[in-house]
Amino acid sequence: MEKKKLRSAAWFDGDEKMSFVHRSWMRNQGYPDDHFRGKPVIGICNTWSELTPCNGHLRDFAEWVKRGVLEAGGFPLEFPVMSLGETLMRPTTMLFRNLASMDTEETIRANPLDGIVLLTGCDKTTPSTVMGACSVDLPTIVVPGGPMLNGVFRGERIGSGTFVWKIKDKMGTEEFSKEDLLEAEICSARSPGHCMTMGTASTMACMVESLGLTLPGAAAIPAVDSRKKVMAQLAGRRIVEMVKEDLTLSKILTREAFENAIILNAGVGGSTNFIIHLQAIAGRIGVELNLEDFDKIGSKIPLLVNLMPSGDYLMEDFFYAGGLPVVINELKTYLHQGAITVNSKSLVENSSKAQCYNREVIASIGKPLIAEAGIAVLKGNLCENGAVIKPSAATPELMNYRGKACVFTSIEDYHARIDHPDTPIDEHGIIVVQGLGPVGYPGMPEAGNVDLPVKVLKKGIKDMVRISDGRMSGTAYGTVVLHVSPESAIGGNIALVKDGDEIELNVPERTLQLLISDEELELRRQAWTPPKPVTDRGYVNMYINNVQQAHLGVDLDFLVGKSGKEVARDNH
Ligand code: FES
Repeated sequence: MEKKKLRSAAWFDGDEKMSFVHRSWMRNQGYPDDHFRGKPVIGICNTWSELTPCNGHLRDFAEWVKRGVLEAGGFPLEFPVMSLGETLMRPTTMLFRNLASMDTEETIRANPLDGIVLLTGCDKTTPSTVMGACSVDLPTIVVPGGPMLNGVFRGERIGSGTFVWKIKDKMGTEEFSKEDLLEAEICSARSPGHCMTMGTASTMACMVESLGLTLPGAAAIPAVDSRKKVMAQLAGRRIVEMVKEDLTLSKILTREAFENAIILNAGVGGSTNFIIHLQAIAGRIGVELNLEDFDKIGSKIPLLVNLMPSGDYLMEDFFYAGGLPVVINELKTYLHQGAITVNSKSLVENSSKAQCYNREVIASIGKPLIAEAGIAVLKGNLCENGAVIKPSAATPELMNYRGKACVFTSIEDYHARIDHPDTPIDEHGIIVVQGLGPVGYPGMPEAGNVDLPVKVLKKGIKDMVRISDGRMSGTAYGTVVLHVSPESAIGGNIALVKDGDEIELNVPERTLQLLISDEELELRRQAWTPPKPVTDRGYVNMYINNVQQAHLGVDLDFLVGKSGKEVARDNH
């Protein structure tokens, strides 16, 4: 086979002035000359940041990747990209996912790299880097940073995020004092790693494994387990081979691979954020994937994994039970066997020997937790381009429900009025929150799972139908309709709902209807005025003017697709 010239050779090969410049400055870091003579250059794209606690251990991890790259005869070069920490960033990390993807894409494109290892962890750091890498399309492997160890508080498993949602109403009461809270704080974050429920970060780790972008079994290994370092080292070795094989992202990320990811996301009970991120990734690599595909392909798949937020266990338990390879093995008849992974074998081939060590955590296909899981996609005059709901996290009695709307124009309006005596809401109503969409907030925050009014909670009622154009944390649960598109800020019909309007949610029929006449809807549309944009400068202004709606994946319209790996002009 003819040896293909490495992409990095365009920088490092040759004896003219610029090759000298490219090599000479790099050599101030102490690299021997042979590193620039035909070794695949592997970029280790690191989302490490002390401001992203879930990725705080990744600087250390990069060293294990480097070991592997060196062992396989490659030249590792680590570089930072914008890191997105879910817990600290204002107003929401989702506003910056596309910016981080641009950083990743342009850093890869602009530099002499032949292959890429993505070190990821917290929710948005996985999709943003994968999106960016897809737009360049070099051989790429993902090393998910791994979940934290189980949270354990006074003998009870507590899941990151999920625990907070559960106890927030008791905080500061006799039942749960300030001292209890302080103790619980460290108990729910007792090791490096990302959230250990099947929240968005774990969902993203499973997503990249399902897409074939990791070595087998990578997703569930806890961040502090020594096997995670082994995985990082093996990924370092493998990426060098992938460069030699020219195994680029687009050879792995086929339509079949995306369908496999949808099937497995249903099987593990992954977060609703999966939809938005998977669509954005598909858009970058050039695979057609629409919102309806998630329902068509995923909604009849059985739920096998019993993890919080809707189940009982955590990622550490999932790992001990066998992890994603067990789920792949159980669901193999649904999966495309032709889709290859980074090791050139299919998911099914890689998982054929996987054994389940705890059926409480991973159910068998013959005895699933729920016969049909996945995500339901709704259509109707309230969401003309679609909305989503996760039935496995919802209350069965509310899946076919009619109630009167109580409308909040923003999340601030909700907080100000939800418990006000004049607010027309009781347990029979439906809470509608506007202004949480990509343009409106801006950035589509995880605020759709708003709390019930205190007066309703006091009656012991734990769930009501809630509808918004926002997202929901993967660690949350409830009968929450999300991602309503078009959103209120651009004049979607959700902007036209008024207090007292009847709304009908029918999940079995996949409909969401505002029960007013077309004439009335049109009159309200004529009277509607768009909200003022929050800013007219900077990245946020660019975001507001170019962001796509939820049903398309919330990417910036001009980022969809690839720029590719060729950069025509040299640097001078
Ligand atoms: Fe980082 Fe949950 S806050 S994964």
